[in-house]
Order: sequence, then C-alpha cells, then structure tokens
Amino acid sequence: MTPIIDIKGLSLAYERDGRRTEILSALDLAVPRGQFLVIVGESGVGKSTLLRVLIDLAKPSTGTVTLDTAPETRSPMALVFQDARMLPWRRVIDNVGFGLERHGLPKAERRARAEKMLKLVGLADLAGRWPHQLSGGQRQRVAIARALAVDPEVLLMDEPFSALDSFTREGLQDEIQRIKAQTGKTVLFVTHDIDEAVYLADRVVVLAGSPGRIAADVSITLPRPRRRRDTELVEAARHLRGELSRRSSDL
Ligand SMILES: Nc1ncnc2c1ncn2[C@@H]1O[C@H](COP(=O)(O)OP(=O)(O)O)[C@@H](O)[C@H]1O
Ligand SMILES: [Mg+2]
Repeated sequence: MTPIIDIKGLSLAYERDGRRTEILSALDLAVPRGQFLVIVGESGVGKSTLLRVLIDLAKPSTGTVTLDTAPETRSPMALVFQDARMLPWRRVIDNVGFGLERHGLPKAERRARAEKMLKLVGLADLAGRWPHQLSGGQRQRVAIARALAVDPEVLLMDEPFSALDSFTREGLQDEIQRIKAQTGKTVLFVTHDIDEAVYLADRVVVLAGSPGRIAADVSITLPRPRRRRDTELVEAARHLRGELSRRSSDL
C-alpha cells in the first residue's frame, strides 16, 4: 500500500551566523497509513524541524516529501504543540472550532463539530469554560480536539505531554491511544522520552547525530492495552537507549 507520508533523501540546512548548518541529513522514511509512529531524539536533533517540513513551514534543501492524502482534504496535517496555545479570549468550544473558520464552515456546523471533538477527548462538560479555568492536562486535550476538528489525515504531535506532571502525562498517554483507535488517524508523535515512545508506538524511529539522521527504526508489536512494565517494552527501551548513546558517542 502507498505510504501516507513518503520522505526520500531529505536534508535541511539553516543559515546561522552566516554559516550553513545542516540540521537533517539524508532521511528516508515511509509512514504507512494508520501507523502510530514515534520519533525520539535528543533536544536539538531536528525533530521539530522535521514536523515543520511536513506541515509546510520549512523547506528541505534536498529530497522530497510525498503525501498520499485525499484531494478533498483541506488540512491533511494538524499539529499539537507542547503548550496548548489557546486563545485566552475565546471559550473552550470556540478554541476547538477555530481552525474550522478558515474552512468557511457555517457557525452551527462548526459548533456541532467542536462539541463532537470535545466529547471525543472527554471534555464535553467544559465547553463553556475560559482557557485560564483549565488544568494543563485539560488544555492539552483541548489542543488535541482542536487539531482533530479539521479532520486531518495525519495528527502531528510535538512533545505534547512533556510539560505535564507524570500522573497527568500517563493519563493522556492512555487517552491518545484510545483516540487513535477510535479515529483511525495516522499519528506522528515526537518525544525525547524513550519510555513514552515504546509505550505508545507501533514503531519508533530514533533521530541522532549532528546533522540528525535515522539511527534506529524499531517495530513494537505488543498488543494494546499495554502494561508499562511489560518485558517487551522494557527490552525495546533498553535497546533504543543503547542505540542513542552509541550514536551520540560516535559523533
Ligand atoms: N529557523 C531556524 N533557523 C536556524 N536554526 C534553527 C531554526 N529552527 C531550528 N534551528 C536549529 O535547528 C536545530 C534543530 O532544532 P529542532 O528541530 O527544534 O530540534 P528538536 O525539536 O529536536 O529539539 C537546533 O540546533 C536549532 O537551534
Ligand atoms: Mg522540538
């Protein structure tokens, strides 16, 4: 089957202090439709840059990105950040419906869709609240609802749970797996937390080095729901930690 995202020979360099610095080098990555792909790597390796390329905010220096998305899809990708980036002067429901305004949907339809998304993330009761009345975990749920409201084919998530306390983070890790199963979306999830990666992923890709390259690509076949301390997950995390430190010390 044609991958929904097909990255071939992608390199990207930034101009910094008058010097060209290569950030990503010769990446090849094909993402099958419906996969929960997690990208791990140290801070500064180029994870966010890769997502920016996918969402068309950064241009690769070489290489191609081919998307196999339906022509009628208005927002093939939607991105969730580490911070929820809500508009403080809009109620929760209107934050969720924000991206739909660009699509020119009538107000009643926007509202219905936003309500459905809030229900999906378990926040139906908070539709009328203001952003400042939400906890960090609730804000991230709103961000997920807002991203899904435009019905993207791929959900991009850039360290979405990194700023949350561990209890809330674990709750949302379970939530995102449920939401993924319920919607069937392809998910590209970036994290620097290897335990989070193996718990969530169908497949983990490690970015390492400078410029960033793919240092490991590992399938996690364990069925869901998973147990965090399952031997297969612990073993996969150990393997990936080894790859990361080996690659970092090579460079
Ligand atoms: N717009 C930019 N111009 C120049 N350098 C940038 C720009 N954006 C990111 N960088 C640099 O690119 C590298 C990778 O950044 P980033 O993709 O944010 O890494 P990560 O998300 O893995 O922490 C970093 O060294 C960062 O300083
Ligand atoms: Mg980043």
